[in-house]
This record gives sequence, structure tokens and C-alpha cells, in this order.
Amino acid sequence: MLKLTLRIITILSLLYLLLLGYFNYKYPVQKWDWSQIDSSNLKFPEQFLWGTATAAHQVEGGHTNSNWSWWENQNNKKGEPTVANNEKAGLATNHWNLYPTDIKLMKDLGVNSYRFSLSWSKINPKEGVYDSESIEHYSNIIDSLLAKNIVPNITLHHFEEPLWFMQKGGFEHEENSQYFELFVVKMVQAYGDRVKIWTTFNEINVYTNLAYMADIFPPGKNNSLSAGIVLKNILITHTKVYNLIKKLPEGKNSQIGIVKDIFFFEPKNRWNLFDWLGSWVADANFNASSLDFFETGKYHFSVPFQANVNYEDLNAPQTIDFIGLNYYSHYATEFKLIEHEKMFSPVEGEAMTDMDYTIYPEGIFRAIERISRLKKPIIITETGIADNKDDRRGLFIERELYAVSEAIKKGYDVRGYYYWSLIDNFEWSLGYSKKFGLYAVDQNTQVRTLKEGGKVYQKIVKKFSKPINKLPN
Ligand code: BGC
Repeated sequence: MLKLTLRIITILSLLYLLLLGYFNYKYPVQKWDWSQIDSSNLKFPEQFLWGTATAAHQVEGGHTNSNWSWWENQNNKKGEPTVANNEKAGLATNHWNLYPTDIKLMKDLGVNSYRFSLSWSKINPKEGVYDSESIEHYSNIIDSLLAKNIVPNITLHHFEEPLWFMQKGGFEHEENSQYFELFVVKMVQAYGDRVKIWTTFNEINVYTNLAYMADIFPPGKNNSLSAGIVLKNILITHTKVYNLIKKLPEGKNSQIGIVKDIFFFEPKNRWNLFDWLGSWVADANFNASSLDFFETGKYHFSVPFQANVNYEDLNAPQTIDFIGLNYYSHYATEFKLIEHEKMFSPVEGEAMTDMDYTIYPEGIFRAIERISRLKKPIIITETGIADNKDDRRGLFIERELYAVSEAIKKGYDVRGYYYWSLIDNFEWSLGYSKKFGLYAVDQNTQVRTLKEGGKVYQKIVKKFSKPINKLPN
């Protein structure tokens, strides 16, 4: 009996090792030996979009009517302030008034494009009410950008929405998408003669996970099923909005995309089957749920024992002209049935950013590879590093751009790169402590100063950036 038990244990152990050996071989650690790489060897297409990015709530200031201005005055489920140090966006970087200065900063950098978002809550403060001054405001920004040969790339929903919309249940109710559709139609009618690049939603999985699965973004639901439903409804809304824009005379020649951020989940211990499982569950939830929808038309969102939401629209792959890729880093992942937020930790052996993840510039190559399965042009709509001391940013940018250039050399259709962010700004629930900007902002005087890391970007941009005379199609 003992012999038999021992034999079974030995066979099972061997099988376990064999399986893990196979996973280790099939999915090797993807790290580059930077000491062997000349990262100045770069190649980019002539008509490449070189840009920086911001989002309304994070930079404009004076938001009083949105999900975020409400959220900043709440406590989370643990009774703590929803934003670190109880900060509020407040005046932010006063970009609302200082946009001419900021456009000048862009010109100094040499970029040929600017990605920014419209504040839905400023433009549409009450149900059915549209504020003409705000509409004109963005029109002026667009004109000022074009006057400087900077192509606008507009995001229609960047985590911020009117409070009245959130109070109606937001995207939890499919019928509420009509409000967003109306907003989008008005925006395209107002700006579509001059704006040709549109992204509907920013980082759909970040938004749904942080706002609905957790209580980090408003409305802070803490309910995985709600997250799955909201994501489904956002995807449906995107497809509707795409078709609406294309039917408008002002939308005819526009390029419409959605922004997906790819974050990688590595098994923390590569010889533990559960850690592999954890990394796959996280990837399926965070990456595959929306990527698959635009690749195959099939949507599947699941959280073990909590949510299982499915939907199909085989036409979905035809509702993006390009895919916006946001990339930041990767996490080491363990399997946890409950307390999902404790599954993730920084990957060992890599230098840290100021966020809870490490510096992993070569990951952008993997992200491009992965997202290329959608068979659409790729625009890197965001990437960057939180680096308060500004002692890692320059090298990060150099290496990341090398990785992007390698992807282009291999034939991946990458059409643009927007560094996040132009200026230090309000980093959502983390407040003002995380500094992603190419320019530092003095919070008292609002004076902007180019950082050393910003100079590195400027040098590369000035070498490659040409005015855009023909938009990708
Ligand atoms: C978001 C930005 C954010 C940045 C840095 C992205 O998740 O789109 O709004 O500031 O990453 O965390």
C-alpha cells in the first residue's frame, strides 16, 4: 500500500514538473539584455504621430459637476478619503485657462499631435443642457493646435462623466448609452470638420475594474458582476457610437478607435501552478475580455464564483479603424480566490517606478505584438513613468522608443506614440504625488519647467517628427 502511494505521488510530482517545465518553455521570461543594446538605433515612419497626452479632469481645473468632483468628497468602504492625502483636483494645472501656454510647451517639444479629452460634465452639465461656452472653449483649443501644426486626437470619455449621468446608473444600464451617443454626435458635429482622430473610451478595463469591481474610482461599487455588465455596455456603446459618427457628414473621414491598456501578469513563482493560474485569470479578466471582442466579436468576462457575462456581436471588429494602446508595466501574480487586489506585486529584480509596478520598457514590444492580433493600425495613445526625482524618465523613454522602433522594423503597423503626460497632474485616487509629466508644474505659481527626462523626449521628437499632412487611413 505504502509503495503504491509512493508511486502515485512520484508520478503526480513528475507530471506536475513536466507541465510546469512545458509552461516555462512555452512562455519564457521576456526580458532584454539592455547592456547589449544600442538604444539610439531608431527607425520611425515619416508620418508618425509624435505626441503627449492629458485628460480633462486631471489638468483643466474647476470641475464641479462630475463623478470625480463628487467622489473626491467621499470616503471609501474602509472609511478613508477616496483620494490620497484627501487631495482634490481643484484648480489642477489650470490648463482650462493656460492652454495657450501648454500648446507653446508642445511646440517647444516638437510634437505634431496632442491627445486630450473633452469634459463631458462641463459640456453637458445637466441632462439635456449643453453649455455653449464650453463647446467654444474646445473649439478654440482645436484651432490653436492646428495653427501650430499640432493634430488633435480627442478622447470622448476619459474616466470622467457628468454626475447626473452617474446618478442615473451610468453604463450599468444599457439604455443610458443614449446620453453618451447624443453627446458624441454633438461633439463630432461641432469639431469633426477639424478633428479626424477620435477615441471613444479610455482604458475600458481600468475604468470598469476600478469603478465597479473595486472602490477606487466613482461610483465605487465593489461588485464584479456590475463590472462585467458595465464593460459589456461600454463595448456595445462603442460600436453604436462608431456607426453614428461614420454616418455624420463631419465624421466621414475620421479615424475612430478605443483605448485598451495592456498590463502583463507574470506568475510570481514560475514553478507554482497556482501562480500560472492566477496570471491567466487576471489576463482573461483584464486584457482578453475586451481584446477578444474586437478580434472575434465575442465578449466573455468572468471572475471565479462572482461574475460570468457573455455577449456577441460579430461585427465588432469592424467598429475600430485603429486601436489605441496604453502601456505601463507588468505585475507578479499569485492566485487568490478572495482578496483579488492582493494578487499583484512588483516583479522582483527590476527597478521601481513611483507607482506599485516596475520599469519594464521592453514590455511595450510585447504589448504591440499582442494587440496586433486585432489586425488594425496601432496608435500608442499613452505610456509613461511616474518618477518624482526625474532620475529614471530619460532612460525609460529611450528604451521604450527603441522597443517601439524594433516593433516597427519587424513590420508591426504602429502609427503614433503619445507620452503620458505633458505636465505633472492629478493622478486620480493617488492625487498629486505621482509625477508623470515631461514638465514639472509648480502648484503655487503654475509655472511649468521642462525636466531632464523631458529633454530626452524632446531630442528624439525633434529628430523624427514631421508635420502631419496626411492622416492614416
Ligand atoms: C490613464 C491616465 C493615468 C495614467 C497614469 C492611465 O491609466 O489613462 O489617466 O493618469 O494611466 O496612471
